[in-house]
Amino acid sequence: MPLFDNHGRSINYLRLAVTDRCNLRCFYCMPAEGISYVPKMELLTYEEMERLVRILAEMGISKVRITGGEPFVRRDLVGFLHKLVGIPGIDEVHITTNGVLTTPYVAELKAMGITSVNLSLDTFDRQRFQEITRRDEFDRVLDCFHALLDHNIPTKINAVVMEGRNTQDIVPLTELTRQYPVSVRFIEEMPFNGKGSHYPVLVWTHRKILEVLQQHYPTIEKIPDSPTSTSYNYQIPGHQGTVGIIAAFSRTFCGTCNRIRLTAQGTLKTCLYDQGVMDIKKILREGASDDLIRQAFAQAFRNRAKDGFEAEQQYRQQSVSESMSTIGG
Ligand code: 5AD
Ligand code: SF4
Repeated sequence: MPLFDNHGRSINYLRLAVTDRCNLRCFYCMPAEGISYVPKMELLTYEEMERLVRILAEMGISKVRITGGEPFVRRDLVGFLHKLVGIPGIDEVHITTNGVLTTPYVAELKAMGITSVNLSLDTFDRQRFQEITRRDEFDRVLDCFHALLDHNIPTKINAVVMEGRNTQDIVPLTELTRQYPVSVRFIEEMPFNGKGSHYPVLVWTHRKILEVLQQHYPTIEKIPDSPTSTSYNYQIPGHQGTVGIIAAFSRTFCGTCNRIRLTAQGTLKTCLYDQGVMDIKKILREGASDDLIRQAFAQAFRNRAKDGFEAEQQYRQQSVSESMSTIGG
């Protein structure tokens, strides 16, 4: 059953944050210190998440992405994933991970049919990795990258492009597409690090990232984007993989936005830039029936902001600085 919002966009994609905790401290995502995590009681339990996904699947959600925080820091994530892949109507389960704890589970992820994995990796330089993530885990992430490829799990690398931190990594990361069948995606930095904007204006926009690629790879070609893609996709002739650019800050993709988000504490977001439009956990824990929950979702879907700018305007009025680790990417 296709599900449409008040702007005629179909909604079939849920991004589900299973935790707000993380074992890294990425510059663009969290402050170095002084993070207050959500108390465990305030997190949705796996049972609650499973119930919500079942309801959403009946309403037309067919694709789920597991995010965090870092999903693999939550205990028994893999047990939950087994349940998730078995929910009728859920055709695709994807995971976004930083790769630090993931490698031991890769074979099992493949066996249960996880559709793809996005690995967050902003640099191929150990020193810069440590500067950006404030942790020395580069080797474990690299192991994860190779394990994913060895198990033939479709893999994307997500790199946030940051002025003065990793712009020299654009070419080395793109070079991975030469010999590996990966999609390397460069993401505009968003002001979601728990403290607000790092810059008065964003210099490293999708246009500027493309200029760097075109300068270094004059033969780079545009390839078709899927209708709901958030990335502009390219290929360098002769390379096995592809390159994508995600205008996360410029928000050029809102017109076809097919996604909703559940935060780890059970808040529904109908836009990345909104502050949460409904406390689903509260409704759940007050003992709501499936039908009531369905009605609550349906109402939120009928009231979506038309784009990330409108959502942000509403969010600004509340002036809270959110971190990506609670939003879930
Ligand atoms: N800007 C852009 N992308 C971000 N992510 C997290 N924080 C930000 C931000 N401030 C994305 C990164 C990371 C994923 C978990 O979320 O791509 O890989
Ligand atoms: Fe952790 Fe991902 Fe945030 Fe980095 S971006 S601190 S890996 S949740």
